[in-house]
Amino acid sequence: MSSRRRLAAGRLVIASHNAGKLREFAELLTPYGIDVVGAGELGLNEPEETEATFEGNARLKATRASRATGLPALADDSGLAVDALAGAPGVHSARWAGPDKDFAAAMRKLEDALQSTGATEPHQRGARFVAVLALAWPDGHVETVRGEVAGTLVWPPRGDAGFGYDPMFRPQGHERTFAEMTGAEKHGRDAPLSHRARAIAALKEACLG
Ligand code: IMP
Repeated sequence: MSSRRRLAAGRLVIASHNAGKLREFAELLTPYGIDVVGAGELGLNEPEETEATFEGNARLKATRASRATGLPALADDSGLAVDALAGAPGVHSARWAGPDKDFAAAMRKLEDALQSTGATEPHQRGARFVAVLALAWPDGHVETVRGEVAGTLVWPPRGDAGFGYDPMFRPQGHERTFAEMTGAEKHGRDAPLSHRARAIAALKEACLG
């Protein structure tokens, strides 16, 4: 019973300069007759992420790219929201790692913040990874979907697969952290576990096919 706008076959801009994201979205969308083109290929700049929410930033990136090209555009925004820190680092997740993208330092900073709030027991260390996708059309219409995965933050970090805050994040119902799982386990097509895989499943349901 959805009143969602569906995406027709044709060209779609991916409002990202990240080659990994482009590849992932191309794999998802090609079966629907959608031909993806990267923002970089079209000479678009990456806008500054000035909004306070994942939805806001994903919308901003998608609408800018759609307006600039006259094509539909897809953007994503994601991060880690920690309960004891009122949702921080949230939309600032990448920025906590600084210009050198030093996630060992970002995880230490996160652990220091948790310690300073007295969050030492597992039940006090709840967090969620969040991913929001925004699909924008040149007439200004936007659809957004959200994927989340809840878990607990561990210390010290464990595992060296994955990226970002993965070594600290143990998803609910699992013993291992995201960095101790394979990509197939983390993204599992049949039962998506990661926030990004869940957001992509929600996009398929809402706007594709
Ligand atoms: P953006 O969505 O490219 O703006 O970046 C989001 C930031 O959130 C990343 O740089 C990571 O710090 C963090 N993040 C998002 N998703 C994940 C994940 O699956 N694992 C670990 N860190 C993540």
